[in-house]
Amino acid sequence: MTLSETTVAELHELAGRYPHKRSALLPMLHLVQSVEGSVTAEGIERCAEILELSTAQVSGVATFYTMYKRRPMGEHHVGVCTNTLCAVMGGDAIFERLKNHLDVGNDETTADGKVTLEHIECNAACDFAPVLTVNWEFFDNQTPESAVELVDSLRAGEAVRSTRGATITSWREAERVIAGFEDGRVDEGPTAAGASLAGLRIARENGWTAGTTSAGGSGTATTKEGAVAQADTARAESETVAEQSPADVEGGGSDD
Ligand code: FES
Repeated sequence: MTLSETTVAELHELAGRYPHKRSALLPMLHLVQSVEGSVTAEGIERCAEILELSTAQVSGVATFYTMYKRRPMGEHHVGVCTNTLCAVMGGDAIFERLKNHLDVGNDETTADGKVTLEHIECNAACDFAPVLTVNWEFFDNQTPESAVELVDSLRAGEAVRSTRGATITSWREAERVIAGFEDGRVDEGPTAAGASLAGLRIARENGWTAGTTSAGGSGTATTKEGAVAQADTARAESETVAEQSPADVEGGGSDD
């Protein structure tokens, strides 16, 4: 057994934070990763035992979500978004450059154990494309050159700050925070920046507020009764559409 008594106690603590203890499985797996460097067989067994689940059930979750790692991770996890927008804005080029520079393939760790490189899916930060993450913290508007500088700094042990978040620690430390054990850095760095706030700025300039109705629009309910009436109307409209035949909907009955 490699999990310490402290870790096992913390796993129990997480299980006790929820009305239904099985809800704690996701943070518990993050805690296992934070101490083991991956989701180990022992970690799966311990979570199953505490939550009264089968190891197959826990394993099914651990292998479904890509944030759970079944192989030991490097000190830092570097994720390169290669989803559509980031890819066309340079994400693919960044990933290729980093693979060559670090001499690793996808989901592989550098020989010095410092960096695990992975291409990741959309991080909901498309307004700052192309983005990277280091231990899940954002690095916005990257280029192949800035990405190389970033991983070199990480490997050299230099202080690195994310664009919109905390000072970079290590992947294991970040996993502990995700598990629900705060490290006191939650307020470090800005969490929003210009591109994300552009819509808000434009709304303010134009005096727009939430709940504004447009002529002929369905509007936004401001009371519970209004919300119920609005939902009833929407349901009736959708049932009317559903009752129409495909020809009615798609072609309007045209014989052309
Ligand atoms: S496509 Fe990269 S953050 Fe959305």
